[in-house]
Amino acid sequence: MSFREDFLWGGAIAANQVEGAWNLDGKGMSVADIASFKPNLSIEDYAGHNTITNQMIADAIEDQTTSIYPKRRGIDFYHHYPEDIALFAEMGFKTLRLSIAWSRIFPNGEEEVPNEKGLAFYENVFKELKKCNIEPIVTLSHYEMPLALSTKYNGWVDRRLIDCFVNYAKVCFERFGKYVKYWLTFNEIDSVGRHPFTTAGIIPENCGDRLEQAVYQALHHQYVAAALATKDCHELIPGSQMGCMLTKLTTYPNTCHPADVELALLSNLNNHAHADIQICGEYPPLYQAQLKAKGIQLTMEPDDLKILKAHTADYLAFSYYMSRTESADPEKEITSGNTVTGVKNPYLESTEWGWQIDPVGLRVSLLELYDRYRVPLIIVENGMGAKDTVEEDGSIHDPYRINYFREHLSEMKKAVEMGVDLFGYTSWAPIDLISVSTSQMSKRYGFIYVDQEDDGSGSLKRSKKDSFYWYKQVIASNGEDLE
Ligand code: BG6
Repeated sequence: MSFREDFLWGGAIAANQVEGAWNLDGKGMSVADIASFKPNLSIEDYAGHNTITNQMIADAIEDQTTSIYPKRRGIDFYHHYPEDIALFAEMGFKTLRLSIAWSRIFPNGEEEVPNEKGLAFYENVFKELKKCNIEPIVTLSHYEMPLALSTKYNGWVDRRLIDCFVNYAKVCFERFGKYVKYWLTFNEIDSVGRHPFTTAGIIPENCGDRLEQAVYQALHHQYVAAALATKDCHELIPGSQMGCMLTKLTTYPNTCHPADVELALLSNLNNHAHADIQICGEYPPLYQAQLKAKGIQLTMEPDDLKILKAHTADYLAFSYYMSRTESADPEKEITSGNTVTGVKNPYLESTEWGWQIDPVGLRVSLLELYDRYRVPLIIVENGMGAKDTVEEDGSIHDPYRINYFREHLSEMKKAVEMGVDLFGYTSWAPIDLISVSTSQMSKRYGFIYVDQEDDGSGSLKRSKKDSFYWYKQVIASNGEDLE
C-alpha cells in the first residue's frame, strides 16, 4: 500500500507572508501588518513572542512604511502570482494551500459590501490555478484578521466576531465555490493561547488580569464560527470539504519518570482538545475539568453546543515541524520550537532557530491522530527554515532541506503503509516568504528562492534551488522516489 493515485502533493503559503500589497486596492490593515522585524528572538520570547501593546499598535498605524514591518511587503505574490503558480505547476503540484486575507475582502471586518477588488484578485488567482490543474485548499483565517476588529472589540473575545467571520466566509463560498472544494477555517486554532493577538486579535493589556479567560472565550467563539461556516460551506458548495487545523505539537516525556510522563500526556491532551472539539463536536471532559480548575467560565449561548455537534469538520489538517519534550525537572536545558519551548531532546538535531528535527515524530503524529479521529488527514505544513547561499553562477545548493524533506516523507510513507488515511501533503513553504515568528526573509523555507534581503532590498527574482528538482521528482513518482 502506498500513496493513493490522487494524492494531493503541493505546498502551502499564507496571504500575509507572501502577498505584500498591504494597502493596495482597498485592503484594510490586518494584525499581520503591524508585526515587526524580530530577528533575535530569545527562547523566552518564543514562549510569548507576540506580546503587543496598544502603543505598539498605534505606532504601527502611524508608520505607513514597510521598513520594519516586512509582512506588509511579503514577496509581492500579489503581482507575481502567475509566475509563482507557473513554477509550482512545473514542480508538478496537484494542490496549493493558500489563504484569503480577510481584510482584502472586508477591510475593517464589518462593511455592508465586500471589496470587489479584493474578490477579483482571488478569483484571478483561482483561475490561474485552474489553468494549471492545481486544486486550491483555502484557509479562511491564517493570522491576518482585520486590525479594526482587534482594536474595536478586542478580537475574538467578543461574540460579534462570529457574525463577522460567518458573513465573510459566506461571501467567499458564494464567490469562489466554483473554484474551491477544499476549505479550512482557522490556521492552527490552538495557537490562540500561544499568540493571542496574531491568531485572535486579543490585546493582552485590554484583558486586565483575565487574559487566560479571554483566550478560552475567544477560542469558544472560533469553534462556533467554524461550525457555522462548515454548515454554510456544505449548503452552498455541493461536494465541498471543510477541514479544521491543528499545530501538531507532539510531546515526549523526557524520561520514564511518571512525573515526566504525566506532563507529556497533559500537553498532548491539551493540544488534541482543539481537534476533539471540531472533529467530535464536543468539549472533552478532562479539558472541561481543567478549565473549571483554572477558574475559566465560558459564556455560551443555549445552542452553541448543539451547533458544535451538528457541524463537525470533514477532515483534519495539521502542521508538523518539530517534536517537543517535557520534564518535571526545572533545571533542564530549554530549546525553542514553533511558538513553543520545550526541554532539549538529546537524540535530535535542531535547525538554526532551535526547532528540533524529528521525522519519526511525524509518523508518530500521523498514527496517533488517525487512531484517535479516524477521519482523512492531510499534512498542510512541514518544512525547515534555513539560510541559503546563492553561488556565483546563481545556483542554490540546499542539501539540508532535501534531507529534512526526504526523512519526513519517508516516515510519512511508512505511516500510510501502516494504514493511515492521508490524502495530501503540502510543504511549508514551496517559495521563500516572510517568517511568522521573526518576520525574517532570511529564514528561508522554499524550493524557490526569492531575491529579497531582510531589509527589503533585492530584485524579487525567483530562482530554483536544488530542492526544486528533487521535489519535482518526488511528485512525478507519487512519492516513490525520494532519492
Ligand atoms: C506555522 C504557521 O505555524 O509555522 C506559518 O502556520 C509559519 O504561517 C510556520 O510560517 C513557520 O514558522 P516561522 O515562524 O518560521 O515562519
